[in-house]
Amino acid sequence: MTEVQMEKLAAIAAPLLAWYARDGRDLPWRRSVSPYAVWVSEIMLQQTRVAAVIPYYERFMRAFPTVRALAAADDEQLMKLWEGLGYYSRARNLKRAAVTIMESFGGEFPRAYEDVLSLCGVGEYTAGAICSIAYGLPAPAVDGNLLRVAARITGLFEDVTDAAVRRRVREAFCEVIDRDAPGAYNQALMDLGATVCVPNAAPHCARCPLAHICTAHAEGMEMRLPVKREKRPRRAEERTVFLLVRDGKLALRKRPPRGLLASLWEFPNVLGNLDENAARLALAEMGLETCDLHRLPPARHIFTHIEWDMQGYTARVTGDAEGLFWADAAALDACAVPSAFSAYLSNAKSLLERE
Ligand code: ADE
Repeated sequence: MTEVQMEKLAAIAAPLLAWYARDGRDLPWRRSVSPYAVWVSEIMLQQTRVAAVIPYYERFMRAFPTVRALAAADDEQLMKLWEGLGYYSRARNLKRAAVTIMESFGGEFPRAYEDVLSLCGVGEYTAGAICSIAYGLPAPAVDGNLLRVAARITGLFEDVTDAAVRRRVREAFCEVIDRDAPGAYNQALMDLGATVCVPNAAPHCARCPLAHICTAHAEGMEMRLPVKREKRPRRAEERTVFLLVRDGKLALRKRPPRGLLASLWEFPNVLGNLDENAARLALAEMGLETCDLHRLPPARHIFTHIEWDMQGYTARVTGDAEGLFWADAAALDACAVPSAFSAYLSNAKSLLERE
C-alpha cells in the first residue's frame, strides 16, 4: 500500500464507527456476545448470507448452547441441524474443534489468537472475527467484503484473489484497525460490505459514510473494483436420481465418508442422464426389479466447483440392493438430506404419504 492509500484507510475508522453505532444491524449473535456464539455464527456465515443463517443459528444454539454440548453432539442430529445450509464440513469441523477445546483447553474457549487459529475449521478471517468481537483484540477479519471495501476506498487495482495481495491488505488493516473498538470496526465493515458497498451491483454510495474518502467513488470506478481473476468454470456432471419405493418405504443411501457431501443421506443415484430403459437396467444392476417407473422433471444443483444436472425417476421396486436404507416418513424426516436433492424431496415425501 502507498502512503496515500494508508492515509485513506486510516481515515475510515471514525465515520465507520459512527455509522455502525447508528445503522449497524441487530443480529442474534450480537445480543449476548460470547466467544462460542461468535464462533458458531462466523462459521455459519462463511459462504452464507445473514438472512439464511439466522434461523439455523437460533436452532443450533438451542440444541448446543455450550462447547460441552457441541462436543458431545450426536452426528446425525448435527447434520440434521445443518441440513440446507451447505458446506457440511463446517459442521463436522465445529464438533471436532469443540472436542479439542474440551480436551486441550479444559473446556474454556481459548483466548489467544494463535490458539483460536489452531482450531479445526478456523482460518485467519474467523480467528480475527472471534478475537476482535469477543475479546477486543485488534485483529482484522479479512474476507471478500472487506477486500472489496478496501479496494474501492484505496483504488487498489491488484487482483484481490491473489494471496500476496490479501496479505498486504491484512497487514494494512492490522495498522489502521480501531484499537479501542476492533470488534465494532470489523462488524461495521461486514455490514457496510453487505448493505452499502455491495458486490455484483451498483453500490449505494449516496448513503455510504465513507464516500467522501473513497477513491473509486471520486473517480467513478466503483464497478471496476475489486479486480478478481476469472474463476475456473464449473464441471457439469449428469446424474440420474431414483426415488425407490418398496413395501411403503423409500430408499436412502449414505454417501461415502470423504468428499462431496460426505456421510450425508441421499436418494440412490448413478452417473449419466438415463432414459427409461437404461434406468431399469441400472436398477437391475443394483439388484432391484422395477415394477413401474415414472420420469420426474429434471433439476440442477450448483456447488462451488461442480454442477449436477439431474434426471429423476420414481419407481416401485422389489428385491434388495446393498447399502440401501428403507425409510418411512418419520425416518426420512430425521435424516439429513442435502439441498442438492431438494427438488426431489417433496416428491419423496408425497410418495410416502400415499403409501
Ligand atoms: N458476515 C460474516 N460475519 C458477520 C457478522 N459477524 N455480522 C454480520 N455479517 C457477517
